Amino acid sequence: MADRLNALLRRLPEAGVWCLGLIPLAWLIWQVLQGGPGVDPVRGIEHFLGKTGLWLLIACLVIPPLRLLTGINALRHRRAIGLLAFLYIVLHLTAWIWLEMGLYWSQALKDLWKRPYLFFGITAFLLLLPLAATSGRAAIRRLGPRWKQLHLLIWPAAGLAVLHYLWQMKIISREGWIWLTLFLALLVSRLISAGLRRKKLRCDSPRAGKPATDSPHGQAKLP
Ligand code: HEM
Repeated sequence: MADRLNALLRRLPEAGVWCLGLIPLAWLIWQVLQGGPGVDPVRGIEHFLGKTGLWLLIACLVIPPLRLLTGINALRHRRAIGLLAFLYIVLHLTAWIWLEMGLYWSQALKDLWKRPYLFFGITAFLLLLPLAATSGRAAIRRLGPRWKQLHLLIWPAAGLAVLHYLWQMKIISREGWIWLTLFLALLVSRLISAGLRRKKLRCDSPRAGKPATDSPHGQAKLP
C-alpha cells in the first residue's frame, strides 16, 4: 500500500500538487459566483480560506511523522504544500482587510483591539513570511544549515494559528480540541525525534554536536 502510494507520489510533479491544492480555491470561486458560500458570504469566504490554510499548514507538519509511522513519503511535496498554505493564508488576510474591513486601515486597527485573537493570526502570518521568501533552491543554497533553523519557525507559526483558530470560537468545539491535540501530538513527536537524532549524532560522530549539513530537501532532516 505504502509502496504503491510512494510510486504515485514520486510520479506526481510539483505542478500536479499545485493543481490539487488550488481545487479548494476553484470551489470557493464557484461558490462566490453562485452567491455563497453560506448566508454570510464574507464570513464564509474568510473562514473557508483560513481553514484551508490551517489544513495545509498542519499537513506540512504531518509529513515527516507520517513517513516514520507508515512509510508514506511525501517529503518532496512539502515545499509546494507549504507555499499553498501560505497562499491561502494571504487570501484569508486579504479577505479580512478587503471584504470585511473595506480597506479602511483605521477600522482594521480598531478591529485588532476588539478581537485580540487577530494578533495571533498576524504574528503567525509574519512568522511564515521569511519561510515563503526562502523556499526557493537559491535561498536554500545561500543559507546553508541556517535554512533549517529558520524553517523551524513553522512550529510557532502553526501553534499561533491553532490558538487564533481556537480563540475566535466562542466555545471551543470538538473540532477545535481535535486540532489542538493534533498540533500538540505533532510537537511532541518532533521534540522526541529531534532528541533521538541529537543523541544518535553524539554517539555516531567523533565531532559530537556538529549540525547536519545535508540538503534541506533531503529525506529525513527537515524541520
Ligand atoms: C497562519 C495564519 C492564519 C491561519 C492558519 C488562520 C486560520 C483561521 C481559521 C482556521 C479560522 C476559523 C475558520 C472557521 O472557523 O471555519 C480563522 C478565522 C479568522 N481569521 Fe484567521 N488565520 C490566520 C491568520 C489570520 C490573519 C493574519 C488575520 C487578519 C488579521 C485573520 C483573520 C481572521 C478572521 C477575521 C477570522 C474570523 C473570525 C470570526 O468569524 O469571528 N487570520 N482563521
